[in-house]
Amino acid sequence: MTICEILPNIYYVGVNDRLTRFFEGIWFIPNGISYNAYLIIDEKVTLVEGGAKAGFERELYNNISMVTSPEKIDYIVVNHSEPDHSGTLPFLLRIASNAKIVSSTMAKNILMNLYNIPADRFVTVKDGDIIELGEHKLRFFNTPGVHWPDTIMTYEERNKILFSGDAFGSYGTLDGGLFDDEVDIKFYLEEAKRYYSNIVGAYAYAVLNALKKLSGLEIRIIAPSHGPIWRREPSKIVSLYEKLSKYEAEDKVLIIYGSMYGFTRELAEYIAKKLVEEGVRVELHNAVNEHPSYALSKAWDSKIIIFGVPTYENIAFPPIYYIAYLLTIKKLKNRYYAIFGSSGWAGGGYKQIQKMLDQLGWEMVEPVIEIRGAVKKRDLEKVNELVKNIKRKLI
Ligand code: FEO
Repeated sequence: MTICEILPNIYYVGVNDRLTRFFEGIWFIPNGISYNAYLIIDEKVTLVEGGAKAGFERELYNNISMVTSPEKIDYIVVNHSEPDHSGTLPFLLRIASNAKIVSSTMAKNILMNLYNIPADRFVTVKDGDIIELGEHKLRFFNTPGVHWPDTIMTYEERNKILFSGDAFGSYGTLDGGLFDDEVDIKFYLEEAKRYYSNIVGAYAYAVLNALKKLSGLEIRIIAPSHGPIWRREPSKIVSLYEKLSKYEAEDKVLIIYGSMYGFTRELAEYIAKKLVEEGVRVELHNAVNEHPSYALSKAWDSKIIIFGVPTYENIAFPPIYYIAYLLTIKKLKNRYYAIFGSSGWAGGGYKQIQKMLDQLGWEMVEPVIEIRGAVKKRDLEKVNELVKNIKRKLI
């Protein structure tokens, strides 16, 4: 249970999910996630963010009860309709029988489909609309695509709080500390990057549009729907989002490899060694040992990504194929890539990776290095050539 009066009459009433292992059924969250929700006590009692994922009804109810009777809720603001926030809505609507959901028209349609909620339980808002709660006023911004197309953000004018929904969010439960000045910020920034690359990254253009729209707004606090509340340095998370959405990378090389019997790994290590000797920053990542969500996060801040891919039954080694596929659906742009791998006989599996990355618009750094079995002396000449070409791209 985590309740906190974050400002007079504005309370954090969210919950921590320490049970789910894969967010959205895909993304590994060994440190869990928080579903943040905020309660504003005024003439109109308002819950911002729909609530939490289904299953957290009791805890959410109890948290709200510590502040006021949940039956008294007048408005439930749904910044976007994804069930990690809206799953408790059917329960809340039964308890707060007069409450209206405040959302975009698109979110209304999605929520009606998801939960059979009648149309008269909604108040829809457009860009710039204001709802008066009493002493507090909420202004709404259309920010489609951050994360779902129905997304709005909610701005509380009196205290200048931006309830930003998924934007500026992070994986990781809130273990007592709620604010950026109370938690290990390095951990949450790293997890915010992984969250961005997994969840929001495909909509980078939408993030940039939202940042532009909000740029004239005085924001003292960013209260997202996941992870810490940013009150000491909201600019920190905004800068991170800006950098990630512009596909800005560091001058470093990420080597992602998979290896069945060690031959591709040995080549990966050789390439890494040569790059380091040439003064290049390198990160070596075994695709099989870590969940692909980490590879996406690492790729997001690497200028060059080298794929080490054995041929497996005439195709690319599936764990590497999966990572390349995820990078294409997350639409990571402006990267260079190189490929190496090994095969026992026919080879050529790497071509599947090459095709995907070419379609993504990445530029290949040559040569492709494909070895038969163990690394031979003649292969090393190609490695030297690749390292030389990679260095040129980093200058
Ligand atoms: Fe946190 Fe897009 O849901």
